[in-house]
Amino acid sequence: MQPTSSSSRSGRSRLGLVPVLVALLGDGGGLAAAGGDAPYGDSRVLSSRRGMVVSAAPEASKAGAEILAAGGNAIDAAVATAFALAVVYPQAGNLAGGGFLVARSPDGTVRALDFRETAPARAGRDMFLGHDGRPVPKASTNTALAVATPGSVRGYAEAHRRLGRLPWEKVVAPAERLAREGFRVSVGLSRDLAESRELLTRWEETRRLLFPRGEPLAGGALLRQPELASTLARIAREGPEAFHRGDVAARLVAFVQSHGGVLSQEDLAGYAPVWRVPEEIRYGRLVVHAMPLPSSAGQILRSVLAQLEVARGLARGLDADSYHLLLEAERRAYADRNRWLGDGDCSVVPLGEILAPARLAALGASIDPARATPSTSVGASLPRESEETTHLSVATPDGGAVSLTTTLNGSFGNGAIVPGLGVLLNNEMDDFAIAPGVANLYGLVQASVNEVRPGARPLSSMSPVIVEEEGRPLLILGSPGGSTIPTTVLQVLLRATGGESLASAVAAPRLHHQHTPDVVFVEKGGAGEALRESLRARGHVLMERGPIGKVHAIAFDRDGHLTGAADPRGEGAPAAP
Ligand code: DON
Repeated sequence: MQPTSSSSRSGRSRLGLVPVLVALLGDGGGLAAAGGDAPYGDSRVLSSRRGMVVSAAPEASKAGAEILAAGGNAIDAAVATAFALAVVYPQAGNLAGGGFLVARSPDGTVRALDFRETAPARAGRDMFLGHDGRPVPKASTNTALAVATPGSVRGYAEAHRRLGRLPWEKVVAPAERLAREGFRVSVGLSRDLAESRELLTRWEETRRLLFPRGEPLAGGALLRQPELASTLARIAREGPEAFHRGDVAARLVAFVQSHGGVLSQEDLAGYAPVWRVPEEIRYGRLVVHAMPLPSSAGQILRSVLAQLEVARGLARGLDADSYHLLLEAERRAYADRNRWLGDGDCSVVPLGEILAPARLAALGASIDPARATPSTSVGASLPRESEETTHLSVATPDGGAVSLTTTLNGSFGNGAIVPGLGVLLNNEMDDFAIAPGVANLYGLVQASVNEVRPGARPLSSMSPVIVEEEGRPLLILGSPGGSTIPTTVLQVLLRATGGESLASAVAAPRLHHQHTPDVVFVEKGGAGEALRESLRARGHVLMERGPIGKVHAIAFDRDGHLTGAADPRGEGAPAAP
């Protein structure tokens, strides 16, 4: 079945929906109550009984669906999709980045894999400061020093080794093919290249590949990446060691070091993904499986949901009245995040105290339903709008599921493509607190617990989740968006489990609070006047910004259908085998 564009509010399609989709989409549930139309249009949705992949690029979703059709399980499809994204979605898909995945096996076991990048051994607390003790502008984002030790290739290989079914070579093959044969550049990729022109064109190989004749590749252009195809072929044939050791690793490291970076071959050879115990968060009959540290997802989702339980009971859905409570809970959760969280393997993080039920209940009780509580500190810089990460969701009819978020951090990472390898480098070092009081790309001002330490993982906001209801899988979702990821996931989760169709929940306008700065971010054109007025009346300061997040989600419907929804804010699409 082909993806069908459908109205996110009414369930009626402009293109004509097949009947099953009309039934699945429902009538938009409580969206009207929250005020405001879906500001970016309709989710792209698809329904199937055979399996589902949703990602940021149609070609990548199709790669995953092809693997499901060939008998692969959800892990095989997720790994194939992630590799394909490294080819067709260079904004965030990657070989030299990192990420997290939460996986549910058909027997109900839920696992979490952390393949987050680490600080190189020669990295240090003050590495981004100049002689005057101040941060050197853009050193942690646009330079070779910004590159953290990549984790994706070993991460995908470890997930596949433990949980995959098809041969590794077969799973990597679609990506290699896309790189070798080429794909058509989308309008969105062309626009993103133009927006990141300054970052990208400083690097010779990036200019050669993506800015032929000095201009960004146009929508519709065929992009072939023979060097990346060779790197993928090596990985397919020889396994992940072809990337982490030997001449590929040597070449990557030589490039980074020749531009002043500190990444070494020992760092790459020594990188190890880590299986973690997923956070299991109860909210009424729902259980949310989320990433623990070094992601802040588990702490934020647990804190916000516990506070909401106190402030509004176990209500489902999200309406105008509950938005104030949600934003206040977010304010409190982010205050803890920014003050106390870092890599729990390298620093002492008092999670037990922060998340003690009595403390969360007290936080919830401290929310005044009539007034915004001012954040103690204000004035940090605002989150920028052009950053990219990417989330993919996979589900199989037997209850298998993968929720995977991966990133280079900023859009196109640090912008550098390594000559001969075709691989873009990350700028994940910026997720560390690079100096006291200094905001990162996402406006987050973080504490010394998250400062650069050799081998440490920078604190993340990436929040791939799997939601169950009474032991049955219900929802798989995640999003890009830096600091806005957990609050995006929360809004879609509350809507989709509160009676709205998945398409509505994904398309609906989003709001965000992260404690500092003390403002409510509102998508331009999103949130109706009634909601804005009710927030202003309670003392919130509203600030408009561009789109928040790009959710790629799957719902398990009671009748055995899987519904995939791709966010209208991006160009992603669902695909089925
Ligand atoms: O791990 C993090 O929280 C960030 N590096 C994620 C970056 C991101 O989501 C950019 N996307 N829009």
